[in-house]
Amino acid sequence: MLTNRPFLDYSDTSTLSTSAECKPHHQNWLLNQKKTPFNNNLSLAAKAKLGHQKKLFLGYPVNMNTPVEEFFAWRRQLQEADIGSLAFNNAGNPFKRSAVPFDTHNFERDVISRFGELLGFSLSDIWGFLSNSGTDSNMHGMYMGRTLLKGRTGTIPKTYFTKEAHYSIQILRDLLGLDTVVVETLPDGSMDPMDLKLKLADNSNYPALVVATIGTTFKGAIDQVDGIQEVLKDHPSYLHLDAALFGGYLPYTDHASEVLHRIDSNPTLERYDSIAVSCHKFFGFPSPAGLFITTEDLFNEFSELFSKIHNPEYIHQVPGTISCSRDAVKPAEFYFFSTPSAMARQAEDAQSILQLTTHLLDQMQTHFANIRPTRANDHSNTIYFRKPNSWIVEKYSLATMQLMENNKRQDFAHVVVMPHVNQKVLTEFLTDLEKYSDTS
Ligand SMILES: Cc1ncc(COP(=O)(O)O)c(C=O)c1O
Repeated sequence: MLTNRPFLDYSDTSTLSTSAECKPHHQNWLLNQKKTPFNNNLSLAAKAKLGHQKKLFLGYPVNMNTPVEEFFAWRRQLQEADIGSLAFNNAGNPFKRSAVPFDTHNFERDVISRFGELLGFSLSDIWGFLSNSGTDSNMHGMYMGRTLLKGRTGTIPKTYFTKEAHYSIQILRDLLGLDTVVVETLPDGSMDPMDLKLKLADNSNYPALVVATIGTTFKGAIDQVDGIQEVLKDHPSYLHLDAALFGGYLPYTDHASEVLHRIDSNPTLERYDSIAVSCHKFFGFPSPAGLFITTEDLFNEFSELFSKIHNPEYIHQVPGTISCSRDAVKPAEFYFFSTPSAMARQAEDAQSILQLTTHLLDQMQTHFANIRPTRANDHSNTIYFRKPNSWIVEKYSLATMQLMENNKRQDFAHVVVMPHVNQKVLTEFLTDLEKYSDTS
């Protein structure tokens, strides 16, 4: 039976203060909030000023270019379709029909197909999704590798990567409870396939989950996919590529084969099992996101095992992703970056960053050889060198790390030439190096 008891009106403070018996737990806190509706310390003006400094941002692999106006027009179109204003949700497998219609799976599928094709995947055998970040995509790759290898052999694999791999791989191997085998590197910082061979022999009773980095974070080294595959061919293994930065631009260059799933000279060979690429790094998508791409065959095998780990009845399908609720706005927005005109801009950016990196290396080697400027290979957009004056580190937000040099730990810094970097800022950087040549 309905009663006539009035419902509490939280906007009416007099009701709140007189209804002592029904007092919500946080009533005082709520009342206080009314008195301070806005925190002035969180002013946006300071954030707006940051935009002007973006050209000086040389130390981390994020493209700080503001997307073209058409992107913002696309955003507005999405909003008119309620994407970004209603709680759309991409829970589930983007390649299957969803029980909840408020998703953008169609955009997500297209994004995966377009970038997958660029990365040499066959459109008749592809699966993937848009994740929260490169790290999130690496997590999925490592989890998929762990699940498949354990399913095939009954043994949890050991994971293999080098000390140059991104620190997130160390976190993920801990999260997934995987024993690690650290593989030595060659002088350029890439994985040494011969050491991998020795380490596999030492651990012959365990399957191998290998994480190869295409563009290591600090040095920009490239682990050689074919050399690694050659060593892995007689061992139960899964090869995941962490191509967070280089996976964005290499497909547009003459060095695309470093990240291609299949190459023309051997079209039947699948060179790796899965790949992770960050969307906010080279592409300049203005919020963190990642591509995760694998084959449909591998995904189906994974999905079979995954369905035994959990009961997905509630959403009428095996979701295929670790996260249940997933962002629906990002795939629809990132779709813009997969259009022909956006890809044409990415191709231009790829040429430009490699040309500017060559120029910077040339200048640094000519004028500042003493700080040992090094580029791991000529497809890299990263140059590392002895750490300069702290003022320069601060001005250009340079990442710094200690590296071994002549058996001693030395402070180093690096510059990553991203699409927002231009000749003018590099000249300014070189001038500052000249002016402040001490390395304190
Ligand atoms: C090689 C590599 N992998 C993974 C990551 C992490 O990517 P994200 O920041 O998208 O999580 C980075 C970030 O710099 C990276 O350089």
